[in-house]
Amino acid sequence: MFDRPRSGERAVLVRLALGAPADPEDLREFTQLALSAGAIPVATLSGRRDRPDPKYFVGSGKAEEIRIEAEATDAEVILVDHPLSPSQERNLEKLIGRRVLDRNGLILDIFAQRAKSHEGKLEVELAQLKHIASRLVRGWTHLERQGGGGIGQRGPGETQLETDRRLLGQRVKVLGKRLEKIKQQRETGRSARVAIPIPSLALVGYTNAGKSTLFRALTGEQAYIADQLFATLDPTVRRLTLPGGTQVVVADTVGFIRDLPHDFVAAFRSTLTEAREANVLLHVIDASDPRRDEHIDEVNRVLAEIEAEAIPQIKVYNKIDRLEIEPRIDRDADGNAEAVWISAGAGQGLDLLRQAISERLSCAVTRLRLHLPLTAGAARARLYQSGVVVAERSSEEGFDLTVDLPAEELASLKRLEGVRAEVL
Ligand code: GTP
Repeated sequence: MFDRPRSGERAVLVRLALGAPADPEDLREFTQLALSAGAIPVATLSGRRDRPDPKYFVGSGKAEEIRIEAEATDAEVILVDHPLSPSQERNLEKLIGRRVLDRNGLILDIFAQRAKSHEGKLEVELAQLKHIASRLVRGWTHLERQGGGGIGQRGPGETQLETDRRLLGQRVKVLGKRLEKIKQQRETGRSARVAIPIPSLALVGYTNAGKSTLFRALTGEQAYIADQLFATLDPTVRRLTLPGGTQVVVADTVGFIRDLPHDFVAAFRSTLTEAREANVLLHVIDASDPRRDEHIDEVNRVLAEIEAEAIPQIKVYNKIDRLEIEPRIDRDADGNAEAVWISAGAGQGLDLLRQAISERLSCAVTRLRLHLPLTAGAARARLYQSGVVVAERSSEEGFDLTVDLPAEELASLKRLEGVRAEVL
């Protein structure tokens, strides 16, 4: 149903510099995006314009150039690194006689391939349906459809269009309902989790920065790793033991990318829930990328959008093996660890990173004397599991524990009957 590049499809890549000089990095990143979608770039056309042409986005001369190139290279699909209006996409397809996919369609396609959880898949499908809904006006009549179109399924022009619209509307409704249900279940699950006083970390960062590699290096788990953009779409959560035995929870999250359509960020908010609720964010940065500062800004912008900008951050400059520098911690004037330079791939500097995490988290915890009644055995067991208990004295009325607890966790413990706390 969706115009996606099939794996191994030959693609002509098109990118214009609009009102600014061309930057070869843009093209490199776009090529990486096309590869991530499984396309084989057979030709790249670039150009410059002050503003998009209303008919084709590119000028008519350039559009003709694309047609000739597509024929010469026997390309199957044209990938354009800009958002196209439905009519621009249609006009290009008519002229060139091949499918045309814009940047948003391409990003959605990559997300569709990467979504792992049920929720992630539904979110992607919903975003895709909304994207194609705006393009349904054309009804595909200008292109010969490959496959599909069985008897009784496909009427001529208008009828088919109406059927498509109706089916699409129904599907959007069904998906919306299912997502709502999953979100409610998630909320219930989360309030149960809130009672567990385990500090949490979330790995965030620009796509391809090395989050999954670091996640695996820290936790020893096999998260999905690939030299492709967006290798991770849904957060994966694992436990990590810090020096001193403190346990923390680590979540890997989806990679961020420049020019993510706004609707799209909204659709994927739920995959970033772990980032919003983390005690500390590990902001992973590819230190060897010439655009690393731009990527840092972009990630921080999205974090602000999901209201996670106030969460303490440790910047993790990864891939230092490419720069041939030594691992180190950078500190601010008060001696707080601000950044750690590591190589997740080569396993360099991981001890320094664990140390920095430990330091940042210990700032956020308070040592308390906690009295639990005998009936709070389950809460006591959870405190032990999370490694926050420093000492314990038991009496006939219950348990007196000395604990290191993050402030926000105390509030949820206090809701249990008979719990008293005193700051030491
Ligand atoms: P997304 O899922 O797209 O957000 O990517 P990610 O940030 O999870 O990146 P991932 O861990 O998949 O790594 C991307 C690429 O960088 C892979 O090819 C890794 O092997 C490589 N990589 C990760 N860490 C290092 C490192 O320390 N040094 C070098 N040279 N390469 C690394």
